[in-house]
Amino acid sequence: MKPNEHLVIITGHSSGLGRALLDLCLQDKTHVLGIARRRVDLLHPCLKQIQADLSDSELRIEQSLQPLDAFLDASVWRTVTLINNAGTAQPISFMGQLDAQAIASSLHINLTVPLQLSNWLLQRFPQQRLRIAQISSGASKKAYPGWGAYCSSKAGLRMAAQVLAAEAELSGRDLRVLIYEPGVLDTPMQEGLRQTRAEDFPQVDRFRQMQTRGELVAPTDSARELWRLLSNKEMPSLLEIRYGDRA
Ligand SMILES: NC(=O)c1ccc[n+]([C@@H]2O[C@H](COP(=O)([O-])OP(=O)(O)OC[C@H]3O[C@@H](n4cnc5c(N)ncnc54)[C@H](OP(=O)(O)O)[C@@H]3O)[C@@H](O)[C@H]2O)c1
Repeated sequence: MKPNEHLVIITGHSSGLGRALLDLCLQDKTHVLGIARRRVDLLHPCLKQIQADLSDSELRIEQSLQPLDAFLDASVWRTVTLINNAGTAQPISFMGQLDAQAIASSLHINLTVPLQLSNWLLQRFPQQRLRIAQISSGASKKAYPGWGAYCSSKAGLRMAAQVLAAEAELSGRDLRVLIYEPGVLDTPMQEGLRQTRAEDFPQVDRFRQMQTRGELVAPTDSARELWRLLSNKEMPSLLEIRYGDRA
């Protein structure tokens, strides 16, 4: 491998937005490391995969990456992009009805792992050009009843992105951070959401109607916009944007 190549690390590359991003990267001949519980059934010279349950609070993500130690040799890569995409909207119910372990698992995948991976990235690639995208949601700013764990974790992820960018400005690291709201996507996550009981999630009808009216965003469209934003050489140190809004 030549030392001018680009590595993209995508969590949750096996479905939805992550899968659409994976396909775009591979079309671009960009190297991808995908991390999810399921492997994608695809043999491609630019794809490496790690299977891990990112909701498991016992998981040590650095250890999970150890089998790829040689592949992750810093001298190989010039640019490394981390897309913190894996996430869950579960558990969904009002506070007082939630399972304590389910809250912990949700925060682990939606917030702890993205922080741990960002921290690892900065240590592992001290000289490289770094890009980090946090896949956010309107839930990072608006309180939706039933989404206590999801809203809290996405709000934390958004703040983590702001801190990363503020630190990069002080340290002079070549790091750009994107907070990206992908829109209401036509993915298995939305499918699951539509099955929720209204007493657990009063907004459920809004999402059902969006599907009936054909208003859901295709993950390929959202992925294309995200990839365009990340590929922009003029990207500012911190960019926050929602699908369809102008950068
Ligand atoms: N769908 C929407 O309308 C919407 C709106 C705003 C924001 N978002 C955000 O967009 C991102 C992608 O969502 P999506 O709609 O594409 O969801 P999705 O189709 O359900 O895909 C979720 C991805 O995360 C991975 N994942 C889930 N649980 C995991 C676990 N325990 N360990 C490892 N990986 C796990 C899944 O892989 P495995 O199942 O193979 O593990 C899958 O690849 C999420 O961060 C979500 O919060 C979605």
